[in-house]
Amino acid sequence: RSEDIPVLCIDGPTASGKGTLTERVAERLGYHVLESGALYRATALAARAAGIAWTDEARVASMARSLALHFSGGRCYLEDEDITDALRAEEIGLGASAVAALPAVRAALHELQLSFRRVPGLVADGRDMGTAIFPAAPLKVFLTASAEKRAERRYKQLISKGFSANMEGLLRDLEARDLQDKTRSSSPLVPAQDAFLLDNSDLSIDASVEQVLQWWAQKQAFP
Ligand code: DC
Repeated sequence: RSEDIPVLCIDGPTASGKGTLTERVAERLGYHVLESGALYRATALAARAAGIAWTDEARVASMARSLALHFSGGRCYLEDEDITDALRAEEIGLGASAVAALPAVRAALHELQLSFRRVPGLVADGRDMGTAIFPAAPLKVFLTASAEKRAERRYKQLISKGFSANMEGLLRDLEARDLQDKTRSSSPLVPAQDAFLLDNSDLSIDASVEQVLQWWAQKQAFP
């Protein structure tokens, strides 16, 4: 039964390092990955390509229901087009945050997210994995880092890819997105009641991975 397949949820704000942590933990456990933000990003991208406004709830939701998305070899495809890099654009992140505030869009993507739960297990990354999508998951981690640290990481990431970036602008965008994600009425970004909080402001990736694996081992031993 699908409900018996283990799921580990990693939720948290933008640029908290969820993506990297999720990948590394999944690799160590040999589990599948759900990067739920990519579904909202793909919805925003597809809507824009179709000329649908990000505020048009009914049409964006119907777009989300019929998304021909597939993931393979670490790449994401919409129909036959590789959209992996296009999804990462800052503007598409803001669009994702906008469409994610619409309840009909969240409902439209619900089942697609459940379908990622396959043997031997899943590590799910997002904002509401532990609160709305997999509320019975045995381990929920809520990852945070100070806004300054997150802006600094994003800054380094952009510079290393040859993009220009400005710390103040990044910090402002990040705080605006946090506010939008936390204050929306539909599945806002909040830790699940039984989530383990992990602040990685001063923690290496390796140390964060070890912490999560240790919690996971404890959950397996004492469910
Ligand atoms: O994790 P991300 O930056 O790729 O997510 C992009 C946006 O999608 C984020 O600002 C809010 C939304 N999102 C969401 O509402 N629920 C999720 N489970 C994942 C992402």
